[in-house]
Amino acid sequence: MMRVLSVASECAPLVKTGGLADVAGALPAALAARDVRMRTLLPGYPAVIGALKDGAAVQTFDDLFGGPATLLAGRAAGLDLLVIDAPHLYARPGNPYLGPDGRDWPDNPERFAALSWVGARIAADGAAEWRPQIVHGHDWQAGFVTEYLRQMPASDVRSVLTIHNIAFTGNADPGRLHALRLDPARFHSDGYEYWGKISALKAGLVGADALTTVSPTYAQELMTPEFGMGLDGVMRHRRAALTGILNGIDESAWDPATDPAITNYRRPRGKAANKAALRAEFGLPDADGPLCVIISRMTQQKGLDLLLEALPALIDEGGQLAVLGSGDPQLENAFRAAALADHIAVRIGYDEALSHRMIAGGDAILVPSRFEPCGLTQLYGLRYGTVPLVALTGGLADTVINASPAALARGVATGIQFSPVDAATLRNALSRLCTLYKTPQTWSRIQANAMAQPVGWDQSAQAYADLYAGLTTTR
Ligand code: ADP
Ligand code: GLC
Repeated sequence: MMRVLSVASECAPLVKTGGLADVAGALPAALAARDVRMRTLLPGYPAVIGALKDGAAVQTFDDLFGGPATLLAGRAAGLDLLVIDAPHLYARPGNPYLGPDGRDWPDNPERFAALSWVGARIAADGAAEWRPQIVHGHDWQAGFVTEYLRQMPASDVRSVLTIHNIAFTGNADPGRLHALRLDPARFHSDGYEYWGKISALKAGLVGADALTTVSPTYAQELMTPEFGMGLDGVMRHRRAALTGILNGIDESAWDPATDPAITNYRRPRGKAANKAALRAEFGLPDADGPLCVIISRMTQQKGLDLLLEALPALIDEGGQLAVLGSGDPQLENAFRAAALADHIAVRIGYDEALSHRMIAGGDAILVPSRFEPCGLTQLYGLRYGTVPLVALTGGLADTVINASPAALARGVATGIQFSPVDAATLRNALSRLCTLYKTPQTWSRIQANAMAQPVGWDQSAQAYADLYAGLTTTR
């Protein structure tokens, strides 16, 4: 039985801002079937402490980056957890990263350095009579694990860092070097220095034994200046250690046959009732064109500004759009302003149950991202026969079969892809979508193909298990 400590800053269903939480939440169960015991180390946000059942104190720290802390071990939501109860760092309500003013907490570098430090400590000394063979961190919040492991002799522990999004580099001013317990001798370009700043992500990128990212195409893209966010050189340098392992979705939470949020259906035909209900919920009338949906963080990454520009191509053909999202206030306002009677309806906010009803009732899901390491909503779409229209990038390139003439002739298309990612090409793609929708036989075939595509964790869990096994045998 392989022992793995997962170090994550969010984990569904306890605390979630995006897909990272889904992945951290799903991996332990997916790996359990493959002889991997994964325990997950999380910051003790109020939601996590509240959910922890019978949490037992297994270790104390007198000074964890500015205050005392206790490591708790226990279970919540089927997960085997280690939780850092450190009120001075984590006893703050709401979003795990942002204060009430919508800005990053100023002490985020210390808050997640503490997460990484405790991760390294558990890897070095064990906790609750258990010591991992592998410490597997996620994104910049776990980036310093390898720096701290250098200070805590544990030569037998191997490290993995998964890049969910290289755009978040976890920067801090060099003046914080001592506060962050970093070795000043490693503040250089082969260490954790990044354009004159301290970068937690870079620390992990140079230090981890293995690097993974969440799709094969994003793994390639990371090595290019266009997508590497200034770290493409590091990625090229570490190319031999990097693999792309596609995310899966939680097939029990996203199952059209049992989803409590919707009228059940097993075939695409069952979509009609859900679509009618969704239209009613969004105040949209019946229409000839496709009902498209979007469920997204509203940020530059997601290409939603391009969609606003391209929308006439959908509306002119009788299509409709229902949007659920939140984030950048400017984008939120732009969508509020774009709402259009009979055609475009917008909900600003975060609503898990509504997201299920939208996937169930939509004809198509739009994901026009400028970059997308993997993307999960197109996978939900595939499972529910909600045809994905996606940018040809990252995981969107790896999970959708474009309705090209060849794919249509062969009867294998599962969606629509467009490239380059700009408003004009997106406009074209929306027209293609409307044309396909108006040919019911073709459309049903695409839906059926989509629903038959495997989108679970089977293959990828095996890939992680193989990676861990490889790391622990090749010493
Ligand atoms: P990212 O992690 O970049 O945000 P993903 O597609 O990997 O993108 O994951 C986003 C996750 O967050 C999905 O599970 C999606 O359904 C969910 N999500 C995003 N925005 C909302 C929202 N406003 N309401 C409900 N769920 C949302
Ligand atoms: C990031 C990426 C997204 C990916 C998710 C989970 O948030 O933006 O594409 O699906 O992580 O890996």
